Amino acid sequence: MNKKIPVGILGATGVVGQRFIQMLEHHPWFEVAWLAASDRSEGKVYADAARWRLKTPIPPAVANLQVSPAAPEGAPKIIFAALDAAIAAELEPRFAEAGCAVVSNSSALRMKQDVPLLIPEVNADHIRLIDIQGWRKQSGGYVVTNPNCSAIGLVMALAPLHRRFGLETVMAVTMQAVSGAGYPGVASLDILGNVIPFIKNEEEKMEEETRKLLGSLNGSKVIPGPFAMSAQCNRVAVEDGHTESVSIRLKKKAQPEEIISAWNNYKAEPQELKLPSAPQKPVVYIEANDRPQPRFDVDTGAGMTAVVGRLRPCSVLDWKFTVLSHNTIRGAAGAALLNAELLKAKGYLG
Ligand SMILES: NC(=O)c1ccc[n+]([C@@H]2O[C@H](COP(=O)([O-])OP(=O)(O)OC[C@H]3O[C@@H](n4cnc5c(N)ncnc54)[C@H](OP(=O)(O)O)[C@@H]3O)[C@@H](O)[C@H]2O)c1
Repeated sequence: MNKKIPVGILGATGVVGQRFIQMLEHHPWFEVAWLAASDRSEGKVYADAARWRLKTPIPPAVANLQVSPAAPEGAPKIIFAALDAAIAAELEPRFAEAGCAVVSNSSALRMKQDVPLLIPEVNADHIRLIDIQGWRKQSGGYVVTNPNCSAIGLVMALAPLHRRFGLETVMAVTMQAVSGAGYPGVASLDILGNVIPFIKNEEEKMEEETRKLLGSLNGSKVIPGPFAMSAQCNRVAVEDGHTESVSIRLKKKAQPEEIISAWNNYKAEPQELKLPSAPQKPVVYIEANDRPQPRFDVDTGAGMTAVVGRLRPCSVLDWKFTVLSHNTIRGAAGAALLNAELLKAKGYLG
C-alpha cells in the first residue's frame, strides 16, 4: 500500500481548520500529522484545544495529537493554512521560506503578483506562477491561495459563461452565512432576526479576486478579466452557505438554454484528472423556481458544487440568476484541498 503524504494544519482549531480535519479523515493521499494554532492552544491535545463544531466526531487519529507552536521547525512540508489575514501575512512567508508548500485560505497573499489565486476548475494554468516565486528558488517552498468564500461560488458560475460568451458587466449581491465569520463570529444578538449590510473588506476582495481568477496568465503576471464588477455583501442568519443574486451583461448574445447547458456541462482539469475532492459536476443548474436554498442545496456534490438557479432576463443588464456555494467547504477547506490535489497531480509536491 502507498504511504500517505503527511500534512500540517495552521489554524487547526478554527472553523476552517476543523473542516480540514474532517475532510482529510479519509483522504486517499494525505494524512494529518501536525497541528498548530495560537499560544492559547499550544501544548494541549487537539480535543481539549478545539471547540469542535462539526456534526461528525473529531477523527480519533487527530483527537490526541498535541497542538504544536505555529513555527516551521518540526512541521511537515505541506501546510494547509487557515489563519486570520494579519497573522497569515507574518506566518505564511516564514513557512514558505523554510521550504514548505503553503496552501492558504487567507487573503494575506492572494493578490500578490507571483502568488496563484486558484480554482482548479477555472484557472489551473495560473499554478505556473509558483515557478517565479523567490521562496521556490531559494528553499523550494511556495504559497498558493484559494479565493474568498463569496468570490469562489460566483466565479464558478461565471467561468463557463465567460469562456463561451464573454463577460462585460457583473453585479453581485451576497447573503453570507455566519460560519463565514469564523468562531465565535458574529454575536447572536447582532445576527438573530437580522441582516448586517457590511462585511469588512469583503466587497473589495470579491471585486479584485473575481477579475484575477478570470484573468489570463501572461508570462509572469495575470492580466485581470476585462469586465466591470460590483459586489455588495451582507451577513444573514444562515449557518452554512453563501447565496448570491447576480446580474450580468455578456459580450455575445446567448439563449437561456445555452447558458444552462454551459453550466450543466462544465468540466475542467480536476474532473479529467479525477482529483479525489473534485465534484463530478462543478456547477449544476436547478430548475425549481425557489431554489437554490442553503437548507436544501448547500451539500450538493459533498459541498464542492456551485448550485445555480432562477435564470431569467434582467431588464437592466442581460441576465440574472442565483448561485449558492458552501463557504467552509468549497469556499475554504475543500478549495484548498483541491488546490493541493492539483499541486500533486502537476508534480509540485516533490
Ligand atoms: N470561515 C469561512 O467560511 C472562511 C472561508 C474562506 C476563507 N476563510 C479564511 O480562513 C482563515 C481562517 O478563518 P476561520 O473562519 O477558520 O477563523 P477562526 O475560526 O477564527 O480560526 C482562526 C484560527 O487561527 C488560530 N490563530 C489565531 N491567532 C493565531 C496566532 N497568533 N498564531 C497561530 N494561530 C493563530 C486560531 O487558534 P486558537 O483557537 O488557538 O485561537 C484558530 O485556529 C481566515 O483568513 C478567513 O478569512 C474563512
